[in-house]
Amino acid sequence: MKVVPFHVVHRKALPGGYVILRVGGEALECEPGQFVMLRGDWGFSPLLPRPFSLALVEGPDLTILVKVIGEGSKRLAAVQRGDVLLIHGPLGTSFRRVAPDERVLMVGGGVGIAPLLYLAQASRSTAGGGIVCVYGGRSRRDLPMAAELAAAAESVTFVTEDGTAGEKGLASRAMVEHLARAPFDRVVTCGPWAMMATVARLAAEAGLPCEVSLEAMMACGYGICLGCALPATDGGYVYACKDGPVIDAGRIVWGDQPEPSLGTEADKGRRKRGAKTSSAPEAQLPLKGKQATPAPAPSPPAPSPTPPDQKGGKRS
Ligand SMILES: Cc1cc2nc3c(=O)[nH]c(=O)nc-3n(C[C@H](O)[C@H](O)[C@H](O)COP(=O)(O)OP(=O)(O)OC[C@H]3O[C@@H](n4cnc5c(N)ncnc54)[C@H](O)[C@@H]3O)c2cc1C
Ligand code: FES
Repeated sequence: MKVVPFHVVHRKALPGGYVILRVGGEALECEPGQFVMLRGDWGFSPLLPRPFSLALVEGPDLTILVKVIGEGSKRLAAVQRGDVLLIHGPLGTSFRRVAPDERVLMVGGGVGIAPLLYLAQASRSTAGGGIVCVYGGRSRRDLPMAAELAAAAESVTFVTEDGTAGEKGLASRAMVEHLARAPFDRVVTCGPWAMMATVARLAAEAGLPCEVSLEAMMACGYGICLGCALPATDGGYVYACKDGPVIDAGRIVWGDQPEPSLGTEADKGRRKRGAKTSSAPEAQLPLKGKQATPAPAPSPPAPSPTPPDQKGGKRS
């Protein structure tokens, strides 16, 4: 764990205030789900580095997906080829890689897709085609790196709240459909707090283990400042940077969540791996497996920040 200078080797701006950065430097030993703290050479404002998931790792090259939220991400999104970024990491816990005989349901929302994409890519040689993904966003422009995900997973169901790409609705609703259709061994999720809370509950109702990748305001990124504390089910706290970001969903106090639900106790039993699955014919299901990659929106509108539904500490 050290601070290493990386050079920007590629920058791609997407509609909706998203930028994909590929940075090259030293080959780091990383695992899917880990993150880095990063900042550029931009003086004192903002002073602290910002946490970002690794979206892809190829030798000495790291790919990072940035959504413009405030000053730090705005400056990060504006870097150009050749600029230097200081990277501290890799930090935090990681997802378990997908085993050859395992079926994993991934549920991602917005930039939460970054660590899931890395997991899908990294598990491609071992996974045996068992990665099914639901990728949701507000609209088609909120599904960055959709093509990369479609290439890495067995199937991807795209969902948008406004119906501009894939199915109209919420990612959690599509998750319910998948659980009704086929057995899974594990659920992994990353995205907005409310989405992860619902995914965690649905996984628990289905009797499936669920790994979540937490987002919290972070100042240090490695357990010193205690600024990323989240209430835990054991009555204490978990620190998102050190105990997470990837953590068993059952350790987090999620708070109240709305529907959807998995239904009756009898339904729940069928969703476990090895149990009898729903016999609903494919044609009757509203969501199809691999759907067309959404084309980029014609012109980038002003970014609309959607901070996660959680409390965050102050930092500069
Ligand atoms: C482990 C981890 C991985 C992440 N991976 C990615 C990624 O791959 N791509 C990406 O675009 N973003 C990612 N984020 C979020 C990213 O770190 C923040 O968007 C960024 O730090 C915002 O910094 P800023 O200076 O632009 O905004 P700030 O000026 O710091 O904040 C702007 C507003 O957003 C709120 N806010 C900012 N960050 C958070 C947060 N994490 N939780 C709750 N509220 C917040 C602040 O309260 C404030 O109101 C990740 C966060 C974590 C903890
Ligand atoms: S960010 Fe400092 S303890 Fe987690």
